[in-house]
Amino acid sequence: MSEQQLTKVARYVDLHEISVDGDDVLIVGGGGREHAIAWKLRQSRRVGNIYGAPGNAGMNVIPTDIGATDIDKIVEYVGSHPNIKYTVVAPDDPLSMGLVDKLNARGYRAFGPTKAAAKLEWSKAYAKDVMRRYDVPTAEYATFTDADEAKAYAKTAKYPLVVKADGLALGKGVIICKGKREAYAAIEQIMQDKKFGEAGNEIVIEQFLKGYEVSLLTFTDGTHFALMPTSCDHKRALDGDEGLNTGGMGAYAPCDRFSPELLQKTVETIVKPTISAMQKEGAPFKGVLYFGLMVCGDEVKVLEYNARFGDPETQSVLPLLKSDMYEIMNAVTDGTLDKVNIEWSELKSINVVLASGGYPLSYKKGCLISGLNDVANDVNVFFAGVSSSADGLKTSGGRVLCVQAAAENFALARQKVYDNIAKITFDNCYYRKDIGSKL
Ligand code: AMP
Ligand code: GLY
Repeated sequence: MSEQQLTKVARYVDLHEISVDGDDVLIVGGGGREHAIAWKLRQSRRVGNIYGAPGNAGMNVIPTDIGATDIDKIVEYVGSHPNIKYTVVAPDDPLSMGLVDKLNARGYRAFGPTKAAAKLEWSKAYAKDVMRRYDVPTAEYATFTDADEAKAYAKTAKYPLVVKADGLALGKGVIICKGKREAYAAIEQIMQDKKFGEAGNEIVIEQFLKGYEVSLLTFTDGTHFALMPTSCDHKRALDGDEGLNTGGMGAYAPCDRFSPELLQKTVETIVKPTISAMQKEGAPFKGVLYFGLMVCGDEVKVLEYNARFGDPETQSVLPLLKSDMYEIMNAVTDGTLDKVNIEWSELKSINVVLASGGYPLSYKKGCLISGLNDVANDVNVFFAGVSSSADGLKTSGGRVLCVQAAAENFALARQKVYDNIAKITFDNCYYRKDIGSKL
């Protein structure tokens, strides 16, 4: 990035003084979540330079030109840069490919679960099986590797039900079916037409759960855990939860309707049993374990596990973290999380994603982004699909920017976010107007 472009973005990229004695850190990934992780890590005195594989135009990291799934290249890069003391693996794909195992095998320190522990995310059938065997509350289900058997089950099942591809499918492999015909079609799409590729070799069919969703992210070192504030994602593209499913159009934290009593119950019936289950499975989970929860009255059930920070929940949650995240991450690696004091702000935090018109289907790229310099100092703009060019910053993805603010109450936080979004423009920009309006 040229000097001039850097000045243009300098206010959103975090330009904390780099600690000369600090460890250099490599962050794997390059979306809004990774920008928030980089922004938080840079606040640590123990962190020196940050590298990105690949990073993005706003993270102000040293780029490597290595993609997040080029795991052999990442391992090689860390090997040839002894100044890099720690690698943070943020996305699901490199975790499922065993990047952390490969780094550890060479003696390199890394944040994130092993492939075996990340299976809680990359195989829904495995996750359900773990929940069943260790009594973690979840929807009733059955798994199938044969389409005809799945259809036979669907023929007599109660509706609505949910058909899920077993593997990673960018959050799209879940189809809610109101009746038999839809279920047959879903089974055919996933298992026979291979709409999600190999991810559809096995499917989970489960009972549809009614209620509201809460994301509960935790740091865990395999034995101890620390809860982050609860959060709430908005997956649909349009206001009022209409439109297509997306990677997430905004999130707020904490989720105040989820009472301390429910949280306590969740810890006892879900968090602790899952962490101890993974120990018993011989795959202790170290990293961020994300519980996707469905709440119905005073019942809480697990919809899914993610083996990583959520996107866009992270962009609302990490700004509330008052403690040094590098210290927390190292304690996760070392199994000493119980020795770290972790403090969270009481503020309410909201983020809204600015997307390219057409997303999550096809959309235009290369639109010039303007107005970022007018954004208030206490508002964060995390970059996702942004690239820098000779003319300035341009859109390069479906989700482009994520605007976040925190305040004493949600009304103020919302106002700050939306007032500042109004200053930012690019062609075909669209965003939800109702993030955090129904708390
Ligand atoms: P998953 O990837 O399993 O979390 O599913 C993606 C989304 O589909 C969830 O966030 C829910 O909105 C919805 N979903 C998944 N499973 C169920 C279920 N059993 N009942 C109702 N909604 C579900
Ligand atoms: N926000 C949901 C996810 O990160 O999968």
